[in-house]
Amino acid sequence: MAMSDYRTNVCNVLVIGSGGAGYRAAISAYQAGCEVVVLGKRLRKDAHTVLAAGGINAALGTVDPEDSWQQHFADTFRDGYLLNNAAMVEIMAREAGSAVLELADWGCDFARLPDGRLDQRFFGAHKYRRTCYAGDYTGRAILHTLADKAEELKLPVHENKYVTQLLVHDGACFGALAFDIHTGERTVYLADAVILAAGGHTRLWRRSSSRRDENTGDGMYLALQAGLELADMELVQFHPTGMVAPEDMAGTLVTEAVRGEGGILRNSLGERYMEKYDPARKELSTRDRVALANYTEIIEGRGTANGAVYLDISHRPKDYILKKLPRMYRQFMESQMLDISQKPMEVAPTAHYSMGGVVVDPETTETAVRGLFAAGEVSAGLHGANRLGGNSLVETLVFGRRAGENAAAYSNGIDVQIRSKDVIRRANDDLSGMIREGGELARPLQRAVRNTMWENCGVVRDEDRLKQGLARLAELREAAKTVDVRPSSEGWQDLALALDLRASIASAEATIRSAIERRESRGAQQRYDYPDLSPDLMVNFRIRMDENGNQTLSSVPVPEIPAELQEWVEEDPQLALNGRLLE
Ligand code: FUM
Repeated sequence: MAMSDYRTNVCNVLVIGSGGAGYRAAISAYQAGCEVVVLGKRLRKDAHTVLAAGGINAALGTVDPEDSWQQHFADTFRDGYLLNNAAMVEIMAREAGSAVLELADWGCDFARLPDGRLDQRFFGAHKYRRTCYAGDYTGRAILHTLADKAEELKLPVHENKYVTQLLVHDGACFGALAFDIHTGERTVYLADAVILAAGGHTRLWRRSSSRRDENTGDGMYLALQAGLELADMELVQFHPTGMVAPEDMAGTLVTEAVRGEGGILRNSLGERYMEKYDPARKELSTRDRVALANYTEIIEGRGTANGAVYLDISHRPKDYILKKLPRMYRQFMESQMLDISQKPMEVAPTAHYSMGGVVVDPETTETAVRGLFAAGEVSAGLHGANRLGGNSLVETLVFGRRAGENAAAYSNGIDVQIRSKDVIRRANDDLSGMIREGGELARPLQRAVRNTMWENCGVVRDEDRLKQGLARLAELREAAKTVDVRPSSEGWQDLALALDLRASIASAEATIRSAIERRESRGAQQRYDYPDLSPDLMVNFRIRMDENGNQTLSSVPVPEIPAELQEWVEEDPQLALNGRLLE
């Protein structure tokens, strides 16, 4: 393709991703005086953030006045099994309140108490009620508020754009190449600074709370291609409660808010088994514990015929359910004709959240490539080995805002703008090279990746299966080289699928390599062959990729916790670093 075959778009700050982190970043970059462009793979109000359900955390203390940002810090750090970057946790806990109140000021319809202050509900493993919410559609309420704000500021949002490569020259990022998924039109976006806010990789598991073609690891692959390191890729959160039927909805989220509002888990014998796994917190234990408990009940034969356990909220009045859990009510009514105010739901673990991702500076969110920032699920560091429910939405706001401010500061501060025609030409050639006839199809290979991750790198892992998974990925990587890509008048989805497949295989490989190396059970990483937590593994595993696609792994010690916050973490005996549930 000749250079003139693509369009060119110039701005100061380019934001890749139109979810919560992307929009929040774009708004603050614009407010700092920059021209901003936002790119989204989907429509402007339909990024994955709309599926976030139960709430967003901030220690506002409206319902439980004893709460504090320090306690939020401690809960997050402790339940991340100490693998979190303490500086990021501190920033999140300190800034959560202002981030949530700002959203409320912008019109987000959070539930309120009779006196007008924001209501807060229980979520698992938080010491106090600190989860603000809008029914069980909090993510949608937040994303729509941000998108409306962006529209009010007239920020350009380019929909249906698939970003194929970050443009990096001499250690600095100067934009990205993208094509339109419907028309195939290519655009070189030139920018002083780029913010990567392109989500995670949990669609790579057969049961996933992500929709088709989202969270395919494409954001992580962009980072690897740009020479960045990914950290903690093995730390993938399985949400305890996903739907199991109908088949095409298997994995769809059943919000933790059901348990926050009093939902009870039972096995097929009618036992309230969480009393056995975590007698104090029961259903409101940490996600990793509840997911492992559900998994254990199912594989030990105490599940339902559909391979599930029961989640029951039917003891609550129907009016209450319709007010607090309206989406769940409709979801089960429409897909299963099940009235959850009358009968229990069947649920099982589902891949839900990537706690690993791009290594960033905690303060600025800048990466190791100058002018390239990352925020939201694509980044690593905040959650450690287990994310608390409600912390992802606040992460998008707090670190999205910081990414936008710092990208703007970078843009405002540079004198000379880097451009490289050679880098652009190579990115373009790489994309053209993906369009070819071949004997394989992307969808079945993507399905094979998902089966491999589910079977070989699922809720509980062991070295043999992980290594088999790695070998299978190598076969799939070979097969992916001959994927048939023939764009037509029906669109350029084939190309997007082929790129997704390449990215998914690389992200899956990074995950398995890290999972093999973490020879212990800690939070979301559960190993049959290493059932105990290892004090020697207070490290974050990192992966990088060379030009030939070969990955190498290294480890760095987890950063120190600030001395003044140490006492908050130690205060609670639950922190004891002893073995886990996996007897
Ligand atoms: O269950 C949920 O509503 C999910 C919330 C979260 O992942 O933060």
